[in-house]
Amino acid sequence: MSIEKKISLLDVFEESLKKVDNEIFKRLDATIPLLAEIGTHLIKAKGKRIRPILTLAMAGQLNDFSRNPILLATAVEFIHTATLLHDDVVDESDFRRGVKTANRIWGNEASVLAGDFLFAQSFDLMVETNSLDALSSLSKASCKITQGEFKQMQISNNPNTKIDDYFEVIGGKTAQLFGSACESGIIVANGNEEQINAAHSYGFNIGLAFQIIDDVIDYTLEKNVSGKNIGDDFKLGKTTLPIILAWEKSDKNEKDFWIRTIKLLEQNEKDFEYAKNIMKKYKIIEECKKLASDFINISISSLNVFPENKYKIHLKELANESLMRTK
Ligand code: IPE
Ligand code: IPE
Ligand code: MG
Ligand code: MG
Repeated sequence: MSIEKKISLLDVFEESLKKVDNEIFKRLDATIPLLAEIGTHLIKAKGKRIRPILTLAMAGQLNDFSRNPILLATAVEFIHTATLLHDDVVDESDFRRGVKTANRIWGNEASVLAGDFLFAQSFDLMVETNSLDALSSLSKASCKITQGEFKQMQISNNPNTKIDDYFEVIGGKTAQLFGSACESGIIVANGNEEQINAAHSYGFNIGLAFQIIDDVIDYTLEKNVSGKNIGDDFKLGKTTLPIILAWEKSDKNEKDFWIRTIKLLEQNEKDFEYAKNIMKKYKIIEECKKLASDFINISISSLNVFPENKYKIHLKELANESLMRTK
Protein backbone atom coordinates (compact mmCIF):
# COMPACT_ATOMS: atom_id res chain seq x y z
CA MET A 1 0.00 0.00 0.00
CA SER A 2 1.49 3.34 -0.98
CA ILE A 3 1.33 6.29 1.35
CA GLU A 4 0.28 9.29 -0.68
CA LYS A 5 1.51 12.69 0.38
CA LYS A 6 -1.39 15.06 0.72
CA ILE A 7 -1.25 17.74 -1.96
CA SER A 8 -1.90 21.27 -0.75
CA LEU A 9 -2.23 24.60 -2.51
CA LEU A 10 1.44 25.18 -1.65
CA ASP A 11 2.31 22.23 -3.90
CA VAL A 12 -0.16 23.15 -6.63
CA PHE A 13 1.26 26.66 -6.88
CA GLU A 14 4.90 25.81 -6.18
CA GLU A 15 6.10 27.25 -9.51
CA SER A 16 3.99 30.40 -9.25
CA LEU A 17 5.16 30.97 -5.69
CA LYS A 18 8.76 30.76 -6.89
CA LYS A 19 7.91 33.52 -9.35
CA VAL A 20 6.37 35.53 -6.50
CA ASP A 21 9.60 35.06 -4.52
CA ASN A 22 11.66 36.21 -7.50
CA GLU A 23 9.52 39.31 -7.89
CA ILE A 24 9.91 40.06 -4.19
CA PHE A 25 13.69 39.80 -4.19
CA LYS A 26 13.97 41.74 -7.44
CA ARG A 27 12.12 44.63 -5.81
CA LEU A 28 14.08 44.75 -2.60
CA ASP A 29 16.29 47.22 -4.48
CA ALA A 30 19.78 47.46 -2.98
CA THR A 31 20.26 51.21 -3.53
CA ILE A 32 20.31 51.58 0.22
CA PRO A 33 21.81 48.29 1.42
CA LEU A 34 20.46 48.39 4.99
CA LEU A 35 16.92 48.96 3.73
CA ALA A 36 17.16 45.93 1.47
CA GLU A 37 18.74 43.92 4.30
CA ILE A 38 15.81 44.55 6.65
CA GLY A 39 13.26 43.53 4.03
CA THR A 40 15.30 40.46 3.12
CA HIS A 41 15.64 39.45 6.77
CA LEU A 42 11.90 39.08 7.30
CA ILE A 43 11.11 37.68 3.87
CA LYS A 44 13.91 35.07 4.02
CA ALA A 45 12.52 33.85 7.35
CA LYS A 46 9.61 32.59 5.20
CA GLY A 47 6.07 33.11 6.31
CA LYS A 48 3.28 30.75 5.41
CA ARG A 49 2.44 32.72 2.22
CA ILE A 50 -1.27 32.20 2.80
CA ARG A 51 -2.43 35.48 1.29
CA PRO A 52 -0.52 35.19 -2.02
CA ILE A 53 -1.66 31.56 -2.27
CA LEU A 54 -5.24 32.77 -1.96
CA THR A 55 -4.78 35.29 -4.77
CA LEU A 56 -3.25 32.64 -7.04
CA ALA A 57 -5.87 30.01 -6.20
CA MET A 58 -8.77 32.39 -6.79
CA ALA A 59 -7.41 33.35 -10.21
CA GLY A 60 -6.70 29.65 -10.80
CA GLN A 61 -10.36 28.81 -10.17
CA LEU A 62 -11.13 30.93 -13.22
CA ASN A 63 -8.25 29.46 -15.23
CA ASP A 64 -6.03 32.53 -15.12
CA PHE A 65 -2.39 31.48 -14.68
CA SER A 66 -0.94 34.58 -16.32
CA ARG A 67 1.54 37.13 -14.94
CA ASN A 68 -1.11 39.42 -13.46
CA PRO A 69 -2.15 37.17 -10.56
CA ILE A 70 1.57 36.68 -9.80
CA LEU A 71 2.11 40.45 -9.62
CA LEU A 72 -0.92 40.86 -7.38
CA ALA A 73 0.10 37.97 -5.14
CA THR A 74 3.50 39.64 -4.77
CA ALA A 75 1.84 42.96 -3.92
CA VAL A 76 -0.32 41.24 -1.30
CA GLU A 77 2.72 39.65 0.37
CA PHE A 78 4.52 43.01 0.31
CA ILE A 79 1.58 44.73 2.02
CA HIS A 80 1.39 41.93 4.59
CA THR A 81 5.14 42.05 5.31
CA ALA A 82 5.04 45.85 5.64
CA THR A 83 2.25 45.60 8.21
CA LEU A 84 4.23 42.99 10.16
CA LEU A 85 7.25 45.31 10.36
CA HIS A 86 5.02 48.06 11.71
CA ASP A 87 3.02 45.74 13.96
CA ASP A 88 6.15 44.43 15.67
CA VAL A 89 7.14 47.99 16.51
CA VAL A 90 3.69 48.74 17.93
CA ASP A 91 3.60 45.45 19.87
CA GLU A 92 7.26 45.66 20.94
CA SER A 93 7.68 42.09 19.70
CA ASP A 94 11.01 40.28 19.82
CA PHE A 95 10.38 37.24 17.64
CA ARG A 96 8.64 36.60 14.37
CA ARG A 97 8.92 33.63 12.00
CA GLY A 98 11.38 32.06 14.41
CA VAL A 99 13.91 34.88 14.13
CA LYS A 100 14.55 38.13 15.96
CA THR A 101 12.32 40.95 14.77
CA ALA A 102 13.73 43.80 12.70
CA ASN A 103 12.88 46.28 15.47
CA ARG A 104 14.90 44.21 17.91
CA ILE A 105 17.93 44.07 15.58
CA TRP A 106 17.85 47.47 13.86
CA GLY A 107 15.49 49.51 16.06
CA ASN A 108 12.05 51.04 15.58
CA GLU A 109 12.96 53.85 13.20
CA ALA A 110 14.64 51.59 10.66
CA SER A 111 11.76 49.08 10.89
CA VAL A 112 9.06 51.67 10.29
CA LEU A 113 10.89 53.05 7.29
CA ALA A 114 11.54 49.58 5.88
CA GLY A 115 7.81 48.86 6.26
CA ASP A 116 7.00 52.05 4.35
CA PHE A 117 9.37 51.01 1.59
CA LEU A 118 7.78 47.56 1.17
CA PHE A 119 4.36 49.12 1.22
CA ALA A 120 5.30 51.59 -1.52
CA GLN A 121 6.70 48.74 -3.64
CA SER A 122 3.32 47.04 -3.49
CA PHE A 123 1.73 50.00 -5.27
CA ASP A 124 4.18 49.77 -8.13
CA LEU A 125 3.26 46.11 -8.56
CA MET A 126 -0.45 46.80 -8.52
CA VAL A 127 -0.12 49.52 -11.13
CA GLU A 128 1.71 47.06 -13.40
CA THR A 129 -1.40 44.87 -13.57
CA ASN A 130 -3.32 47.72 -15.22
CA SER A 131 -6.33 46.82 -13.12
CA LEU A 132 -7.75 49.87 -11.38
CA ASP A 133 -10.31 47.68 -9.64
CA ALA A 134 -7.64 45.42 -8.13
CA LEU A 135 -5.65 48.48 -7.10
CA SER A 136 -8.77 49.99 -5.54
CA SER A 137 -9.53 46.81 -3.59
CA LEU A 138 -6.02 46.45 -2.18
CA SER A 139 -5.53 50.13 -1.39
CA LYS A 140 -8.85 50.19 0.49
CA ALA A 141 -7.76 47.11 2.42
CA SER A 142 -4.48 48.86 3.28
CA CYS A 143 -6.38 51.79 4.81
CA LYS A 144 -8.53 49.37 6.81
CA ILE A 145 -5.45 47.59 8.19
CA THR A 146 -4.17 50.83 9.68
CA GLN A 147 -7.61 51.77 10.98
CA GLY A 148 -7.86 48.33 12.61
CA GLU A 149 -4.43 48.57 14.21
CA PHE A 150 -5.25 52.09 15.38
CA LYS A 151 -8.55 51.08 16.92
CA GLN A 152 -6.81 48.16 18.62
CA MET A 153 -4.46 50.63 20.25
CA GLN A 154 -7.47 52.63 21.46
CA ILE A 155 -9.28 49.66 23.02
CA SER A 156 -6.13 48.24 24.57
CA ASN A 157 -6.00 47.68 28.34
CA ASN A 158 -9.77 47.61 28.71
CA PRO A 159 -11.00 44.09 29.55
CA ASN A 160 -14.56 45.42 29.46
CA THR A 161 -14.34 45.89 25.68
CA LYS A 162 -17.43 45.18 23.58
CA ILE A 163 -17.13 42.14 21.38
CA ASP A 164 -18.28 44.22 18.39
CA ASP A 165 -15.30 46.52 18.88
CA TYR A 166 -13.04 43.48 18.80
CA PHE A 167 -14.62 42.32 15.55
CA GLU A 168 -14.17 45.76 14.06
CA VAL A 169 -10.47 45.62 14.99
CA ILE A 170 -9.79 42.18 13.54
CA GLY A 171 -12.01 42.85 10.53
CA GLY A 172 -9.80 45.83 9.73
CA LYS A 173 -6.34 44.70 10.70
CA THR A 174 -6.53 41.14 9.37
CA ALA A 175 -9.70 40.10 7.53
CA GLN A 176 -9.79 42.89 4.95
CA LEU A 177 -6.45 41.90 3.46
CA PHE A 178 -7.56 38.26 3.28
CA GLY A 179 -10.75 39.43 1.57
CA SER A 180 -8.91 41.64 -0.84
CA ALA A 181 -6.22 39.03 -1.59
CA CYS A 182 -9.06 36.75 -2.77
CA GLU A 183 -11.17 39.40 -4.44
CA SER A 184 -8.29 40.88 -6.44
CA GLY A 185 -7.42 37.41 -7.81
CA ILE A 186 -10.96 37.14 -9.19
CA ILE A 187 -10.91 40.73 -10.47
CA VAL A 188 -7.80 40.22 -12.63
CA ALA A 189 -9.18 36.91 -13.84
CA ASN A 190 -12.26 38.78 -15.12
CA GLY A 191 -14.72 37.21 -12.70
CA ASN A 192 -18.25 38.60 -12.51
CA GLU A 193 -19.62 40.68 -9.66
CA GLU A 194 -21.17 37.74 -7.86
CA GLN A 195 -17.84 35.90 -7.93
CA ILE A 196 -15.95 38.99 -6.76
CA ASN A 197 -18.26 39.38 -3.75
CA ALA A 198 -18.11 35.67 -2.98
CA ALA A 199 -14.30 35.71 -3.08
CA HIS A 200 -14.22 38.65 -0.69
CA SER A 201 -16.60 36.91 1.70
CA TYR A 202 -14.54 33.69 1.57
CA GLY A 203 -11.33 35.58 2.41
CA PHE A 204 -12.82 37.99 4.93
CA ASN A 205 -14.38 35.19 6.98
CA ILE A 206 -11.18 33.13 6.93
CA GLY A 207 -9.39 36.28 8.08
CA LEU A 208 -11.70 36.68 11.09
CA ALA A 209 -11.19 33.04 12.06
CA PHE A 210 -7.46 33.32 11.40
CA GLN A 211 -7.07 36.22 13.81
CA ILE A 212 -9.24 34.58 16.49
CA ILE A 213 -7.00 31.51 16.31
CA ASP A 214 -3.93 33.77 16.43
CA ASP A 215 -5.29 35.35 19.59
CA VAL A 216 -6.05 31.92 21.07
CA ILE A 217 -2.54 30.68 20.25
CA ASP A 218 -1.16 33.42 22.48
CA TYR A 219 -2.76 31.61 25.45
CA THR A 220 -2.48 27.99 24.42
CA LEU A 221 0.79 27.10 22.74
CA GLU A 222 4.23 26.57 24.14
CA LYS A 223 6.98 29.00 23.30
CA ASN A 224 8.76 28.45 19.96
CA VAL A 225 6.00 26.47 18.24
CA SER A 226 4.53 29.46 16.45
CA GLY A 227 7.81 31.29 15.75
CA LYS A 228 6.51 34.17 17.86
CA ASN A 229 6.64 34.85 21.58
CA ILE A 230 3.71 33.40 23.50
CA GLY A 231 1.94 35.46 26.16
CA ASP A 232 2.82 38.83 24.67
CA ASP A 233 -0.84 39.86 24.26
CA PHE A 234 -1.36 39.33 27.99
CA LYS A 235 1.86 41.14 28.87
CA LEU A 236 0.76 44.17 26.86
CA GLY A 237 -2.83 44.04 28.13
CA LYS A 238 -4.29 43.54 24.65
CA THR A 239 -8.02 43.05 24.77
CA THR A 240 -8.30 40.05 22.49
CA LEU A 241 -11.27 37.67 22.35
CA PRO A 242 -10.11 35.31 25.15
CA ILE A 243 -9.87 38.26 27.55
CA ILE A 244 -13.18 39.82 26.49
CA LEU A 245 -15.10 36.54 26.88
CA ALA A 246 -13.36 35.71 30.17
CA TRP A 247 -14.22 39.16 31.57
CA GLU A 248 -17.91 38.66 30.74
CA LYS A 249 -18.02 35.43 32.78
CA SER A 250 -15.73 36.48 35.63
CA ASP A 251 -16.85 36.95 39.24
CA LYS A 252 -15.89 40.00 41.31
CA ASN A 253 -12.45 38.65 42.35
CA GLU A 254 -11.62 37.59 38.84
CA LYS A 255 -12.69 40.97 37.47
CA ASP A 256 -10.33 42.60 39.99
CA PHE A 257 -7.60 40.34 38.62
CA TRP A 258 -8.24 41.47 35.03
CA ILE A 259 -8.29 45.11 36.07
CA ARG A 260 -4.96 44.77 37.83
CA THR A 261 -3.23 42.80 35.08
CA ILE A 262 -4.80 44.08 31.85
CA LYS A 263 -5.83 47.62 32.72
CA LEU A 264 -3.13 48.62 35.22
CA LEU A 265 -0.51 46.25 33.80
CA GLU A 266 0.57 45.33 37.32
CA GLN A 267 1.64 41.77 36.66
CA ASN A 268 3.68 39.23 38.54
CA GLU A 269 5.19 35.94 37.42
CA LYS A 270 2.21 33.73 38.22
CA ASP A 271 -0.45 35.93 36.66
CA PHE A 272 -0.26 34.45 33.15
CA GLU A 273 -0.91 30.96 34.53
CA TYR A 274 -3.79 32.27 36.64
CA ALA A 275 -5.28 34.02 33.59
CA LYS A 276 -5.15 30.72 31.71
CA ASN A 277 -6.83 28.97 34.66
CA ILE A 278 -9.76 31.39 34.59
CA MET A 279 -10.05 30.73 30.86
CA LYS A 280 -10.08 26.98 31.51
CA LYS A 281 -12.74 27.34 34.20
CA TYR A 282 -15.14 29.07 31.79
CA LYS A 283 -14.13 27.07 28.67
CA ILE A 284 -13.14 30.29 26.94
CA ILE A 285 -10.78 28.73 24.40
CA GLU A 286 -13.51 26.33 23.26
CA GLU A 287 -15.87 29.27 22.86
CA CYS A 288 -13.32 31.18 20.77
CA LYS A 289 -12.74 28.14 18.57
CA LYS A 290 -16.47 27.70 18.09
CA LEU A 291 -16.78 31.30 16.89
CA ALA A 292 -13.81 30.80 14.54
CA SER A 293 -15.40 27.63 13.21
CA ASP A 294 -18.68 29.49 12.50
CA PHE A 295 -16.75 32.00 10.37
CA ILE A 296 -15.04 29.17 8.50
CA ASN A 297 -18.44 27.67 7.68
CA ILE A 298 -19.58 31.00 6.21
CA SER A 299 -16.31 31.22 4.32
CA ILE A 300 -16.72 27.76 2.77
CA SER A 301 -20.34 28.34 1.81
CA SER A 302 -19.28 31.50 -0.06
CA LEU A 303 -17.50 29.23 -2.55
CA ASN A 304 -20.82 27.87 -3.83
CA VAL A 305 -20.88 30.29 -6.77
CA PHE A 306 -17.63 28.91 -8.20
CA PRO A 307 -17.30 25.98 -10.59
CA GLU A 308 -16.45 22.59 -9.10
CA ASN A 309 -12.74 22.04 -9.65
CA LYS A 310 -9.62 21.05 -7.74
CA TYR A 311 -8.90 24.63 -6.68
CA LYS A 312 -12.23 24.84 -4.92
CA ILE A 313 -11.54 21.60 -3.07
CA HIS A 314 -8.17 22.96 -1.94
CA LEU A 315 -9.69 26.28 -0.89
CA LYS A 316 -12.15 24.42 1.33
CA GLU A 317 -9.28 22.45 2.86
CA LEU A 318 -7.27 25.61 3.46
CA ALA A 319 -10.24 27.15 5.28
CA ASN A 320 -10.68 24.11 7.53
CA GLU A 321 -6.96 23.78 8.20
CA SER A 322 -6.70 27.38 9.35
CA LEU A 323 -8.69 26.33 12.44
CA MET A 324 -6.11 23.76 13.43
CA ARG A 325 -3.00 25.75 12.77
CA THR A 326 -0.19 26.11 15.29
CA LYS A 327 1.82 28.58 13.19
C1 IPE B 1 0.47 37.14 11.03
O1 IPE B 1 0.06 36.59 9.83
C2 IPE B 1 -0.40 38.32 11.37
C3 IPE B 1 -1.78 37.93 11.66
C4 IPE B 1 -2.78 38.34 10.95
C5 IPE B 1 -2.07 37.10 12.80
P1 IPE B 1 0.59 35.16 9.35
O2 IPE B 1 0.34 34.16 10.43
O3 IPE B 1 0.02 34.86 8.01
O4 IPE B 1 2.15 35.44 9.25
P2 IPE B 1 3.27 34.76 8.34
O5 IPE B 1 3.30 35.53 7.07
O6 IPE B 1 2.94 33.31 8.12
O7 IPE B 1 4.53 34.95 9.14
C1 IPE C 1 -2.08 41.09 13.49
O1 IPE C 1 -2.19 41.23 14.84
C2 IPE C 1 -1.24 42.16 12.91
C3 IPE C 1 -1.61 42.64 11.58
C4 IPE C 1 -2.53 42.13 10.86
C5 IPE C 1 -0.91 43.79 11.08
P1 IPE C 1 -1.22 40.59 15.90
O2 IPE C 1 -0.42 41.64 16.55
O3 IPE C 1 -1.97 39.66 16.76
O4 IPE C 1 -0.27 39.71 14.98
P2 IPE C 1 1.01 38.96 15.50
O5 IPE C 1 0.57 38.04 16.59
O6 IPE C 1 1.96 40.01 15.98
O7 IPE C 1 1.49 38.22 14.28
MG1 MG D 1 1.62 41.77 16.88
MG1 MG E 1 -1.00 37.93 17.72
